[in-house]
Amino acid sequence: MYRSHNCGELRLTDIHKEVTLAGWVQKSRDKGFMIWVDLRDRYGITQLIFDEERTDATVMQLAKSLGREFVIQAKGIILERESKNPNIPTGAIELLVKELVVLNAALLPPFTIEDETDGGEDIRMKYRYLDIRRTPVRDNLLFRHKVTQEVRNYLSALDFCEIETPYLIKSTPEGARDFVVPSRMNPGQFYALPQSPQTFKQLLMVGGMDKYFQIVKCFRDEDLRADRQPEFTQIDCEMSFIEQEDILNVFEGLTRHLLKETHQIEVDKFPRMTFDEAMRTYGNDKPDIRFGMEFGELNPVAQHKDFGVFNNAELVVGIAVPGAASYTRKQIDELIDWVKRPQVGALGMVYCKYEVDGSFKSSVDKFYDQEDLAKWAEITGANPGDLILILSGPADKTRSQLSALRMELGNRLGLRKPNEFAPLWVVDFPLLEWDEETQRFHAMHHPFTSPKPEDMHLLDTDPSKVRANAYDLVLNGNEIGGGSIRIHDKEIQALMFKHLGFTETEAQEQFGFLMNAFQYGAPPHGGLAFGLDRLTAILGGQETIRDFIAFPKNNSGRDVMIDAPAAIDKTQLDELSLALHVK
Ligand code: AMO
Repeated sequence: MYRSHNCGELRLTDIHKEVTLAGWVQKSRDKGFMIWVDLRDRYGITQLIFDEERTDATVMQLAKSLGREFVIQAKGIILERESKNPNIPTGAIELLVKELVVLNAALLPPFTIEDETDGGEDIRMKYRYLDIRRTPVRDNLLFRHKVTQEVRNYLSALDFCEIETPYLIKSTPEGARDFVVPSRMNPGQFYALPQSPQTFKQLLMVGGMDKYFQIVKCFRDEDLRADRQPEFTQIDCEMSFIEQEDILNVFEGLTRHLLKETHQIEVDKFPRMTFDEAMRTYGNDKPDIRFGMEFGELNPVAQHKDFGVFNNAELVVGIAVPGAASYTRKQIDELIDWVKRPQVGALGMVYCKYEVDGSFKSSVDKFYDQEDLAKWAEITGANPGDLILILSGPADKTRSQLSALRMELGNRLGLRKPNEFAPLWVVDFPLLEWDEETQRFHAMHHPFTSPKPEDMHLLDTDPSKVRANAYDLVLNGNEIGGGSIRIHDKEIQALMFKHLGFTETEAQEQFGFLMNAFQYGAPPHGGLAFGLDRLTAILGGQETIRDFIAFPKNNSGRDVMIDAPAAIDKTQLDELSLALHVK
């Protein structure tokens, strides 16, 4: 037996018990006649004490040789501690060691394995197994396990069946690039790793499985950010004989359950907002509604004077920043520089201070009188003491610039509180989205999404106006999940491919299997997928998903611990019929 207890469970009630613990040496203090060692495992830290008077001389000797991260086993008696540590659950007791075994020595770790470490991100990623020993990382992984477990319980209780779908497939178009895998047995041919199990889950519906879910790895070769990894995990779901409302209810229930289990928070019915409304009110299809600063469109009250910048703009739009009328010129200039950075791309910004005394002072006083400015305040919802910031230009671009500013200010003003949760359904997404680069329409969600029947007639005349039965779940300004009601009719699916620029042959080649299946009795169906990494991170009060993944990739898509991706040798390349291109 390596241990009778773990390092986190012993309390005052265990005094005088003989116990055996095993774990890692976090640190030791040697006073010559007495040595204290903090022994750590997944469950906590217990203090070991070696005392010249009470511990055998050979054990004492061995204790002196212990280095950081040595793996040891210690047997002894639990004593009440003289100076207790109220910060840890085991802080009232210590283990007086009688027997000590070094199970494995350890090299000095390259960074300190404590809550506040001296190790930078790169070194911690290289030695991720050591980083995982640290409490914050370990707790994140345990938290993820809890979320995953609750998801499984909740969906299983509703009769969802977890079914695995293959990882070696043919590409499914979801907007990102595929990772491909060469096939040794089929020279010159490639599998693709799934960007999601989309088509398979639809085929499971044709197969009559009715309610499917899967906690599943997905792979997308896209540019990485704090909330994106090349391989990530979805809670993927699909249901038959349902309408959008049924799906929203099930997954709202799941999210509510998770908020209750992880934070003991009860949330009322989630608000819903159409895509159009979200874009108009927040300039963003995943608005953070924990704070206000809603957009006020100012065209009618800003384009009646001689200010050319506004008069020539498609949209003049502003937000009221609470309490910011007291900002100095320098602070405002800094904000103007912020929106002019290439990442945001505004050409300039107009401001208007709504002073506490009720007067207005703006950067465009030359053009607008107090009456005009009062209207701006009314439309942006500004109160005395607020600062109104206004951008203008092409509608879409300007909205997205003001949205970036709103989020930045939300962060700066501490309005994005990590322990406050504001879920939101965004519904009625457009079916299609114009892509400037390829000069054609793309499916905004994916090509299997059903158009709203009442908008079908616009497909030929005004495709960008067609709305889809598609929805996203947004939590604290992050897209946690998305889904749609699917097309289950072969003819409509073929029509959709046509509108997406596929020839009939191309559609048949790529999706023949799906359209064929639809001819054998496809039920009406729909579903959604949550991003598990994102969901966990946000429930955990953070936004960087890397921190909730045991072995994440860095921003260049590399695993710096195992050093992947890596070159493969010539034999392997030959076997795969891949020619090596040496520059
Ligand atoms: P979608 O592409 O919206 O939908 O993906 C669903 C959710 O997965 C998460 N996600 C990611 N998380 C981390 N890293 C990434 N690179 C990444 N990409 C996406 C997001 C997102 O909301 N098959 C459809 C679902 C459906 O229609 O049922 C799909 O994959 O949280």
